[in-house]
Amino acid sequence: MEDKQYIIFNVENNIAVVTFNRPKALNALNSSLLLEFTRILEKIAKDESIRVLVLTGAGDKAFVAGADIKELAQCDALRGKRFSEAGHATIGRLQSLPIPVIAAVNGFALGGGSEIALACDFIYAAENAMFGLPEITLGLIPGFGGTQRLPRLIGSNRAKELIFTGKMISAAEAEKMGLVNRVCPPEALMEETLKTASTITEKGRVSLREAKQAINAGMDADLATGCNIEINAFSLCMASIDAKEGTSAFLEKRKANFKGTDTT
Ligand code: CAA
Repeated sequence: MEDKQYIIFNVENNIAVVTFNRPKALNALNSSLLLEFTRILEKIAKDESIRVLVLTGAGDKAFVAGADIKELAQCDALRGKRFSEAGHATIGRLQSLPIPVIAAVNGFALGGGSEIALACDFIYAAENAMFGLPEITLGLIPGFGGTQRLPRLIGSNRAKELIFTGKMISAAEAEKMGLVNRVCPPEALMEETLKTASTITEKGRVSLREAKQAINAGMDADLATGCNIEINAFSLCMASIDAKEGTSAFLEKRKANFKGTDTT
């Protein structure tokens, strides 16, 4: 286990868990935390033994309550631009990790906190979790991708209502909108998330990476382009040892033992 200033980083059974750890400020994202998070993401991207990443928040109150408002209050236009650019770069890095990422949202996920969760591949939430983009109440707008990723996920009209009102919604409402995949009792959230993560670690690294990249790239493209992206990703999987192992295992009526390498 690695315990730095604002993030606890733990890897067990090929699953990395990043815990945002600034509970006195409801895990709000200051510049130091964002930098620490970026460095950890770089490390995860290079470590082939890590097959799934789970994000959560320290304490029982918050996942992440947004960007640090004390820091935001000091910003002029240029510093605000740099802050938003830095957040976008970090969250872009998170979204483009070659492994599945699950957000285990254990409380408030507001502003930048919701925006981090939106860049994950899917979200599990505790029953007491609350989601929202309250930036409008600060005279701002979401600055870490919320105006772009939220409408893509739940539709533009629902996203506009949330962004224009700044209102928080419960985990149950978020599930109904398709923002959250599963709602769990708070004490079961981590166990349920790790159970799904563990199922994923048994699959092939190459096919997981290609599935994720095809879905993400296809979401920003027209159907014909997306289908071409899939064709290329499918053929790349065919070149992997994992595909030979997976198909042989089926024919030999045994469980596949994936090694996660790209080439035959
Ligand atoms: N930044 C800095 N500090 C924060 C914070 C934030 N985003 N959210 C909470 N805190 C701090 C509070 O200032 C408080 O600190 P003190 O004890 O030193 O006063 C501590 O965390 C506990 O918070 P509260 O006393 O407010 O707790 P509560 O239970 O009464 O309310 C809450 C909880 C509704 C989440 C409330 O804290 C809140 O509204 N927080 C701000 C949420 C927000 O506006 N987030 C968006 C930020 S802007 C953004 O994220 C821009 C972007 O897109 C990048």
